[in-house]
Amino acid sequence: MVYRSLLRPLLFRLPAETAHELALHSLSLLPASLITKRIDNPALSIKRFGLTFPNPIGLAAGFDKNGIALQPLAALGFGFIEAGTVTCHPQPGNPRPRLFRLSEDQALINRAGFNNEGAAAFARRVSNHRPDCVLGVSIGKSKITPLENATEDRPKDRRHDGAERSEQERRVHLHGPVHSPGKGQPGGVDGGPE
Ligand SMILES: Cc1cc2nc3c(=O)[nH]c(=O)nc-3n(C[C@H](O)[C@H](O)[C@H](O)COP(=O)(O)O)c2cc1C
Repeated sequence: MVYRSLLRPLLFRLPAETAHELALHSLSLLPASLITKRIDNPALSIKRFGLTFPNPIGLAAGFDKNGIALQPLAALGFGFIEAGTVTCHPQPGNPRPRLFRLSEDQALINRAGFNNEGAAAFARRVSNHRPDCVLGVSIGKSKITPLENATEDRPKDRRHDGAERSEQERRVHLHGPVHSPGKGQPGGVDGGPE
């Protein structure tokens, strides 16, 4: 296949985060109409939580943190997309390098630290480019918000609210302190800010 023989060896020559950005930004430039038409097979459709998923294969959070390629991603055929993690305030995440390939183990260490452009930018983008699939948004706590105010650290202002209004599913990400003990920051799968 073209991916294994050509694309993957090229991408693996790049630092992991550069490869991620290249893939995401290239996809964001593609009009959804140019991507192979998704095939919706009713046998794969499932109903859960009052939502109808065209198929059970979804995209996990972390790939499109800022919602820049949601329409092309939906056109690829995902049954749902989880965008984000988005935080109330924009934040740069941890210093680079922060993604590390462990090629021999076929694994990756991710300490991105919830880098994202913030809820307002995300909401604007999603309301202008709504994807044609179930959309979930992973919401995390901003690094600058003290842990005791974590429950307030979500977009409440209606101007920031596009994400809440447009999403059909919402996942609130409650990260365990196990990943960043004593740091006062729920870390979790994205490594959390250091
Ligand atoms: C580079 C990278 C960035 C990720 N960023 C996030 C994130 O921002 N928010 C989040 O909830 N999960 C994030 N994740 C975790 C993924 O959503 C997913 O849970 C993880 O990759 C495990 O998926 P798997 O079980 O399909 O391998 C990230 C994962 C990777 C590899």
